[in-house]
Amino acid sequence: MKAAVHTSYGPPNVVRVAEVEKPAAKDNQVLVKVHATTVNRTDSALRAAKPFINRFFTGLTRPRVTVLGNEFAGEVEAVGRGVTSFEVGDRVFGYNGTRFGAHAEYLAMPEDGSLATMPANLTFEEAAASTEGSHYALAMIRKAKLLSGQDVLVYGATGAIGSAAVQLLKHLGAKVTAVCDSEHVELVRGLGADRVIDYTAEDFTKDTQTYDVVLDAVGKSSFGRCKRLLKPRGIYLSSDLGPLSQNPILALITPLLRGKKVLFPIPRDDQEMVR
Ligand SMILES: NC(=O)c1ccc[n+]([C@@H]2O[C@H](COP(=O)([O-])OP(=O)(O)OC[C@H]3O[C@@H](n4cnc5c(N)ncnc54)[C@H](OP(=O)(O)O)[C@@H]3O)[C@@H](O)[C@H]2O)c1
Repeated sequence: MKAAVHTSYGPPNVVRVAEVEKPAAKDNQVLVKVHATTVNRTDSALRAAKPFINRFFTGLTRPRVTVLGNEFAGEVEAVGRGVTSFEVGDRVFGYNGTRFGAHAEYLAMPEDGSLATMPANLTFEEAAASTEGSHYALAMIRKAKLLSGQDVLVYGATGAIGSAAVQLLKHLGAKVTAVCDSEHVELVRGLGADRVIDYTAEDFTKDTQTYDVVLDAVGKSSFGRCKRLLKPRGIYLSSDLGPLSQNPILALITPLLRGKKVLFPIPRDDQEMVR
């Protein structure tokens, strides 16, 4: 089969299309014929090994994963002997954030991995592009144990994570204020945001409203800058480590102080997320 392969770190031109061995479905696996995938921020960061620290997880001198692609949609081509929840011909989509491999004609996924049957009204392209951002957004929203009616501010509301967060938060009944640049104001309103702050015209950290949750989906703020936006027991969440990697450390300390706190979930691939 054909796959987009990279055997060294670097810019996009280190990737080339090559013939590789087609995977076979093991007993507990589903073989998916990939119809659509994405090149997202995570693929690009792994390919470029940026930041450098990535190499400690992905291979010090050369990448251990040579075929990237973590979002996919396609058709089940074959199932292993033990598989009961998928059949040949099913249209499926999902997320393969630990093993990648979707930039190829075929991808083998464990039956209990992050994949599900596609809603009938979606195209392969729409389904493939909908999983990674919502995976991270949902992990943050679950961690905050959000209640209907709560006030939430989403910074970076137009990105993969931010746009998923706005839609999921509205679905859960939150009142959402979204922060984005001027050209995306209408897009974000269309996703359901109740109020939009244009960050090119206004510093959102000076907003007079206070929030139960501030969700930074672009990793460009800090707990210190956003603290005054939070209600007394408010929660700050970020998709990034923050200045000097402070967010995971603050997530250990601030919950002990019973006031405003930082939460930093470690998202796990799970089938429920895709469903
Ligand atoms: N925790 C994890 O494991 C994990 C995984 C993936 C990504 N991340 C982090 O999450 C962040 C977002 O990822 P993503 O995949 O959603 O990225 P993305 O799709 O590229 O979205 C980034 C968004 O940020 C907005 N933006 C850019 N500069 C901005 C600024 N100065 N102020 C406010 N918004 C700005 C852009 O929207 P506008 O055009 O409206 O400015 C863009 O839509 C990244 O920083 C990444 O490091 C973390």
